[in-house]
Parts: sequence; C-alpha cells; structure tokens
Amino acid sequence: MPLVAYHLILITIRLGGVWGPAAPVPVPFKGDFGVGSVAYNAPTPFEISFQGQSRCSIMKMRGLYMTLPVAIESAIQQKIESHTAQIGVIGMGYVGLPLAVRAAEIGFSVLGFDVDHTRVVALNNGESYIGDITAARMLAVHQQGTLEATTDMRRLRTCDVIVICVPTPLNHTRDPDLHYIEQASEAIARMLRTGQLVILESTTYPGTTQEIVQPRLEATGLRVGEDVFLAFSPERIDPGQTSSQGWSVENTPKIVGGVTDICTTLASAFYRQITSQVVPVSSPRVAELTKLFENIFRAVNIALVNELALLCDRMQLNVWEVIEAAATKPFGFMKFSPGPGLGGHCIPIDPFYLTWKAREFDLSTRFIELAGEINTQMPRHVHDLVARALNRQRKALNGATVVLLGVAYKKDVDDYRESPVFKVADLLQADGAQIVFCDPHISSFQNHAGHVLHTTPLTTDLLTRSDCAVIMTDHSAFDYEQIVAHATAVVDTRNATRHVVQGREKIVLL
Ligand SMILES: NC(=O)c1ccc[n+]([C@@H]2O[C@H](COP(=O)([O-])OP(=O)(O)OC[C@H]3O[C@@H](n4cnc5c(N)ncnc54)[C@H](O)[C@@H]3O)[C@@H](O)[C@H]2O)c1
Repeated sequence: MPLVAYHLILITIRLGGVWGPAAPVPVPFKGDFGVGSVAYNAPTPFEISFQGQSRCSIMKMRGLYMTLPVAIESAIQQKIESHTAQIGVIGMGYVGLPLAVRAAEIGFSVLGFDVDHTRVVALNNGESYIGDITAARMLAVHQQGTLEATTDMRRLRTCDVIVICVPTPLNHTRDPDLHYIEQASEAIARMLRTGQLVILESTTYPGTTQEIVQPRLEATGLRVGEDVFLAFSPERIDPGQTSSQGWSVENTPKIVGGVTDICTTLASAFYRQITSQVVPVSSPRVAELTKLFENIFRAVNIALVNELALLCDRMQLNVWEVIEAAATKPFGFMKFSPGPGLGGHCIPIDPFYLTWKAREFDLSTRFIELAGEINTQMPRHVHDLVARALNRQRKALNGATVVLLGVAYKKDVDDYRESPVFKVADLLQADGAQIVFCDPHISSFQNHAGHVLHTTPLTTDLLTRSDCAVIMTDHSAFDYEQIVAHATAVVDTRNATRHVVQGREKIVLL
C-alpha cells in the first residue's frame, strides 16, 4: 500500500474524516488550527496524532483534501450567533420568563418548560403573570410565534441551549433544597444529545454545577467539554426594582463560568446575544460564589442598618436622617435602608446556601449568621412599635384592629414569598389583635401556614375604623397623605411618609 494511502486510511479511522474533492479553503496539514493542532509523528511515520480541539473542518495533505466533521462547538456557536439555535428555558418564573421573552424577542425560537400547567396555558395564550413582563411584550412574542411553553420534557432533545431557572429554597431544617435542580438535570439527561449547551442560572452554593448537574449529564456516557457543554451563569434580576431603575435582562452584566474553557466560550456567546456585557470567570464555582457574595453583601448591610435603627430608636434619633446624611458622602459609602424584615426568594435564603457549604470546609460564616439574627428580629420590633402606637392612645393590642399595608415583600411587586408581613401578623395576632391585609398588587395569598387569605381594598372608612395602620411595603400606589389623614395611628417601617406634613404626631417611625 502506498505510504500516502496508508496515511489516508489512518486519518479517516482516527479522526472520522471523509475524503472528498478539493475543498474551497484548504488548511495545511501541519500547523496550528486555532486552539488545536494536527501533528505528523516522525518516528512512527504511520501514526498521526491529533492534539487539542479542532477548530477546522478541512485539511490538506500532499495535494489531497480531507473534510473533518465540523467541530461540535463550532456548530453550536454558529447556531447561537445566527440565532438559529433552539433555546429551552426550564422554569418559567421571575427569572426564566424574562430570559425566554428576551431570547424570543431577538429572534431565537424558544421553548419554555414548566411543570405548572396553568403557567404553560397562560403563556401559550400570550398572557404574562410576571410584573416585569408587560402584557404588550408578552403578546408581541406570542404573535411573533417565537415563544412556546410546554410541560413535555421530551422536547428538551430539540434544544441546542438549555437554561435551568428552577427554584432553590431551603428545606425544613433550613438546608439547601436542590431537588428542583436535580429533577431538571435528570430531565435534561434523559434527553441529552451531543452538541447541547446546558447553563444553570438558579442561585446555589459553589460546587452545584459540577457536583449535581455534571454527574447526571455524564451518566449518559457523554463528556462535558467534549460532547456537551455546561456552565453556570447567575441571574441578577431584581423584580420591580431593577426594571424601574432601567436595569433588565438586556443590559445587566452577566457572569459566566464554564466547566471547561470551551463551555465558557459557548455560554458567553449565548449571553452576548442576550445582554450587552458578559463577564467570563474561571469556573462555575467562582460564578456560583459571586452570586452568593452579592446577596450576602446586601443581607449584611441591611442587618447593619437594621441594628442602627434599633439603636436610634433607643437614642431617640431618626435613623433615616442619619442614613440620608451619610449618603451625601460621594465615595466609600453605599446606602441601605432598614425595614420590617427580609423578604423574597433571595436575600433571606441564599446566604444560608453558603453557610451550609462552608461547614464542609470547617468554617463558620459568622457575619452571615449574625446578619440573619439581626434581620429576623425586625418583625418583633415592628410588633413593639405597634404596641407603642396603641399605648399612646391608651389602647391595648388585645382587641385592636391593625391594618397591614403591603403583603408583598417589597415595593411595587406582587411577590410575597418570605414576606415579613406573616411574622408581624402572627406576633400581633398572638397578642389578640385583629389583622386586615391591604395590598393593591395582591388580591389573595397563601400565608406561611398554607392558609389562603384575602386582602381588603384600602378605604378611608377602613382606616378610620381601625386602631393602627402599619406601612409594611412602600408601594407607590398608596396615598400616604390620605393614610396619615384618616388613620388613628400609623407605624411607618419604610419612611414612606417622609413627605407628609400634616398629622406627623400620629406616626411612629421605624
Ligand atoms: N426572583 C428573583 O428575584 C431572583 C433573582 C435572581 C436569582 N433568582 C434565582 O433564580 C431561581 C429561580 O427563581 P424564580 O424567582 O424565577 O422562581 P419562580 O418560583 O418564580 O419560578 C420557578 C419556576 O420553575 C418551575 N419549576 C420547578 N421545578 C421545575 C422542573 N423540574 N421543571 C420545570 N419547571 C420547574 C416552577 O413551576 C416555577 O414556575 C432561584 O434559584 C432563585 O434563587 C431569583
């Protein structure tokens, strides 16, 4: 057999290539092809070794041409950059839906996966249930036909890019509950095929991507970094707040950490289509810890101002005035506000993902624990302020009607997960108070005990009839002048009444 032919057979066998006619863009046989290289091994002339990862599809050897299969990662990158990749988003909630809508708006075909059938039906009718996605935006992508929702996880197989946006709560012992991530990873693994890029966005402890997701994907026999690609990229959305401040999925910088360099490159290529700035980091662990650090930074600073509020209360100083004055410093200070307690799916929960993981490394994260301790005291302080407001009128909590203004954990959203209102209501009820809930964004809700409760519209009559109104959430829809004018007493946990001039003697400020 002629030498050349023998080489050809070897190349075909080793690299799975196909010999064909002259190709349009020949690449020399020896040399570097981007990050990879092909070497002719001199001492054993019949052996051709392939090093690195191929970025080329065509090779030339002694005047003949060989077409190699296009590298898997090049194919997926091409699909991402031309917006022909099929995108799958698992979990159509506060994080997943805005991402899915954004991808659909820029022309990707998007499949939104959810186990909640009602959400799937709503999306397929072009209806939004998330405040940050307006009805008009949702309708537009619906009419464009680029976003479809489904409960059928088998359709994950058709997706080139799969983004996991499922919940990461704490369990009853306040340890990380990763069962949603495990379920989503297993659903992906069942349908996994070569060339898919999987990205985890759910907030979690450092190590989850490689300890929970990667083994499940690799149990299929496919290798991460070679056959399929895996990265972690945390979501930074802050529902209501970020959008009102002009921050959204399309302009918030995105951290990306892949299991291998190619995983990072591909995930970055995807997010470059979605947002204006991508920040690659060296590993999923770094990306996972970055997100937790961002939220812990908030939890610790909120605890600091909450502690200052407790101290100012004893010193008879106005904590809000102190904070506003400090905020005039143009450098080295960042403003945080005290409040009735932490709420939402992130700040009260995420820090404990790190506390839990830190134990594995024999370290107790004392700042996090202390911040948690102070922040969880705040509902009790609100209870004490209500008692003080009633006391001023020579009234007791027992038998008093207290209106809690705001069920949502923060301004202008309908999200009441982990809202401090539940704890405040419990404490007041334990002392015999009757509670009325008002929230213009929420008509009914399930409290932490699982009971479905209804809100009452806020009227002057309700304010007049009640003994105390407590501003739990500073929704823009509340008319604070009217609240102070008609309520018998007001406890303001948000300094929402700062511009109210008349009736200030009725206000007990946090
Ligand atoms: N909400 C926020 O402000 C925010 C911000 C940044 C990061 N995060 C993080 O993002 C993740 C998602 O949070 P969210 O607020 O969007 O949660 P969410 O509860 O609003 O939405 C999660 C969705 O996932 C669905 N789901 C659960 N298991 C599923 C499964 N196996 N397959 C398909 N769908 C499934 C649920 O039905 C729900 O619709 C969490 O890790 C959270 O910590 C949230």
